[in-house]
Amino acid sequence: MTPAPVLAVRDLRVEIGGQHILHGVDLEVAAVGTTALLGRNGAGKTTTVRGILGLLPRTGSVLLRGEETTRLPTHALVRRGVGYVPEDRGVFTTLSVAENLRLAERPGAGEPAYDLVHELFPELKRRARQAAGTLSGGQQQMVAIARTLLNGNQLIIADEPTKGLAPKVVTEVARVLERAAEAVPVLLVEQNLAVVRRLARHCAVLADGRTAHRGPAGELLADSDACRRLLGVGHGGTGTPSTGPAAHSTARPATHSAARRAAPTAETDA
Ligand SMILES: Nc1ncnc2c1ncn2[C@@H]1O[C@H](COP(=O)(O)OP(=O)(O)O)[C@@H](O)[C@H]1O
Ligand SMILES: [Mg+2]
Repeated sequence: MTPAPVLAVRDLRVEIGGQHILHGVDLEVAAVGTTALLGRNGAGKTTTVRGILGLLPRTGSVLLRGEETTRLPTHALVRRGVGYVPEDRGVFTTLSVAENLRLAERPGAGEPAYDLVHELFPELKRRARQAAGTLSGGQQQMVAIARTLLNGNQLIIADEPTKGLAPKVVTEVARVLERAAEAVPVLLVEQNLAVVRRLARHCAVLADGRTAHRGPAGELLADSDACRRLLGVGHGGTGTPSTGPAAHSTARPATHSAARRAAPTAETDA
């Protein structure tokens, strides 16, 4: 039997300034591994994440391990173990790596899991005193992800963590996310389909503020018609139709071992 989802979103609706931005988002985040949230630019992915976190007024139902959270303020969701890696990473650039991590420690969450963080990111231990602003984009992304692993979170939500990174760094961040997802389930908003192929078992696709598709990620990526219709790219593409040749000419379901072998080499929109 598959374990119950860590997060279940039903009919999420968000209005901003009297405008309906989301009108019926449904998704489930599996209790294990990575679930991808996909969709073209402007489809409503970031709004969905901000709605889940209570950063925007919303209606519908958001169940975190079965508990209804729609009436809870953001801090209560954070206290219940939802970690957020925002679209711009939100790293304090003038503070050191160690200071960034210390600021993320949460009272009442038990001993911060520095052992886990240093095991997953030995580089951050070596660079503890370095100002975060002098790190590469990939290293800053590691700081942002590490912060969510300190507090024994139940779920990490990462919004386009590979956006704007060079191809080599995308591979590095994908590796980091893969390891993070071994410890905590991840909801990954992602445009780079090579990364999705490598990491995600399940996916939900948004279009115009609604869920347009849900299912196994490998199945969607293998269906070039569905990819074109829902994401605006042929299968094996990167999610950015204007970039170079596809990373993989054949799409395979993202079995874990195949995913590990297939490092994403696709270009981003950097
Ligand atoms: N604060 C806002 N005010 C008005 N419209 C917004 C606001 N934030 C997002 N939108 C609109 O909502 C839609 C979804 O945006 P967003 O959730 O950021 O999409 P995605 O993350 O999928 O690219 C877009 O059309 C965007 O222009
Ligand atoms: Mg977005």
